[in-house]
Amino acid sequence: MSDEASHPPFDLTRFHNLLETKRFGRNLVFEPTVGSTMDLARDAAHHGAAEGTVALADEQTAGRGRLGRSWITPRASNLTFTVVLRPPRHVLRQVAMLAPLAVALAVEEATGVRTAIKWPNDVHASGRKLAGVLIETESDGSGEAIVLAGIGLNVNFDPREYAEIRDIATSLSVETGHPVDREPLLATVMLHFERLYDEAKAGGSLRDRWRERLAMLGQAVKVAAPGRTIEGTAEDVDDDGSLLVRTASGDVVAIEAGDVTLRE
Ligand code: BTN
Repeated sequence: MSDEASHPPFDLTRFHNLLETKRFGRNLVFEPTVGSTMDLARDAAHHGAAEGTVALADEQTAGRGRLGRSWITPRASNLTFTVVLRPPRHVLRQVAMLAPLAVALAVEEATGVRTAIKWPNDVHASGRKLAGVLIETESDGSGEAIVLAGIGLNVNFDPREYAEIRDIATSLSVETGHPVDREPLLATVMLHFERLYDEAKAGGSLRDRWRERLAMLGQAVKVAAPGRTIEGTAEDVDDDGSLLVRTASGDVVAIEAGDVTLRE
């Protein structure tokens, strides 16, 4: 089979026909190949793009992850996109929770694959990384925040072909044993994202639904946070998504960002 046949380009018309949202994904900026959709979205946002605008690419040549890492995006295989948000102050920190929750709910609804969220905002399946979220926040120039929520969801690629992620990543085709259509999946992510976002804006809390799916709660963990490493038991998360770790001294430390691993 040709590469084009096994990895067809994203079908924008099909996606729009399937989309059930009011705002999210209605305005879509698509590039077959781009450096990073974060930059595509930033550019659109600074040119006045409405909330819910999505920057989508079939391939990224400089995809980026959290903590300065890179993100592998082979052509027409996965979903790599960034959503432009203009959240009120009380929703700002919740975006990092609702993005992975939207992905987890959509993956389960569209494919039946069971997911877990690995703090702070990775989505896992079978104990391996299925999706990652990168949040970049800046000002629109008039003091209002622009949040760029970048999502990389491994759909139809085989991480075993990449030595650096072979042992830690998975994809929906690996989990289901067959290729997965990207257009209905993105439409489902958009619907969950819009619903959760509107709920958060209306003052609702996502914490319980997020916490229900969080891996590692109650377990002995080591958290590499900026400038420090904390060891203890992952007890809970707070309303803003900080991880609450009880250390050996009995103190509970709230950690906003970092990388968590199970302690040996
Ligand atoms: C991580 O787990 O480290 C976050 C990965 C985020 C990757 C996505 S792919 C779409 C968007 N564009 C990027 O360059 N990064 C995010």
